[in-house]
Amino acid sequence: MPSDDTTKNGAALPRLLVARRLPEAVEARLEGDYSATLNPTDEDRGTEGLIAMSAGMDALLVTPTDRLDADAIGRLADTVKIVATFSVGFEHIDVAAAARRGLVVTNTPDVLTDATADMTILLMLAAARRAGEGERMVRAGKWDGWTPTQLMGIHVTSKRLAIIGMGRIGRAVAHRARAFGMDIHYHDMQNLGPDLDEGATFHGDVEEMLPFCDFLSLHCPLNAETRHFINAEHIARLPDGAVIVNASRGPVVEDEALIQALKSGKVAAAGLDVYEGEPALNPGYLDLDNVFLAPHLGSATVETRNAMGFRALDNLDAFFAGTEPGDRVA
Ligand code: DGY
Repeated sequence: MPSDDTTKNGAALPRLLVARRLPEAVEARLEGDYSATLNPTDEDRGTEGLIAMSAGMDALLVTPTDRLDADAIGRLADTVKIVATFSVGFEHIDVAAAARRGLVVTNTPDVLTDATADMTILLMLAAARRAGEGERMVRAGKWDGWTPTQLMGIHVTSKRLAIIGMGRIGRAVAHRARAFGMDIHYHDMQNLGPDLDEGATFHGDVEEMLPFCDFLSLHCPLNAETRHFINAEHIARLPDGAVIVNASRGPVVEDEALIQALKSGKVAAAGLDVYEGEPALNPGYLDLDNVFLAPHLGSATVETRNAMGFRALDNLDAFFAGTEPGDRVA
């Protein structure tokens, strides 16, 4: 539904298509500065819907579930000059195709670092301490009372935590994990040095790091190298009884390999917030008690979702003011 006001101080407002319903504060701000077509029912318009609705739009404000591959980029209306995504990840947009077309693309880094790191710690604790099983037991009325051997989990304090991808979120996870006395190891493209890694042990060869992972947390972007990185071969290199958590992107994990490892006990427990093909997920996970499953909640706090929206609007505002958006990725 387009907002009524199409001008401000006599100037035409940029026409903005907003793919999904956004937090109230974000929509309130954008309605003052854009002639916005919102999505009050929050229906998933799909790629084809967005392409159809892009006619006459100057900008799109999309989310991680709105896929714009090269073909879709090519079919957006010529009027569209910028796509701002309400996310830090931007693998759902073919940025090379956007760049070829001269379409600006922006994302929302920084503002979801803390929320995602908090969620990662939640996944680690929930997986290690069998929180899902315990909650299901209580809700089902099956808890008969405390016993010395009930739902014994894995101790987190003082264990080794290995992080793949020591960017903003990986470092924020490491920072929190130090409060649990964890010994931090990491793999990244380069050794970050003591100012950034705060004394964590760098492993240039990720395969060499795997035997050190009592806990393994994934914080790498999804690309050709990281897709299905957690496969049978790499899982075999982990210590027996390792815990894996993933709050990055689902396809970094090869589901069948992880499911087999969870069944055999090679991987004692896993905490997952993201899935290949989400919101569908491999049904094999649903039968397993030793995997804690969350519905992509990493950035889902009011503060963070507002900040993501404001950051996306800052980028759009900069673009339409004729300046370079701060978070340009194409
Ligand atoms: C992102 O911004 O990429 C996150 O996955 C959203 O939670």
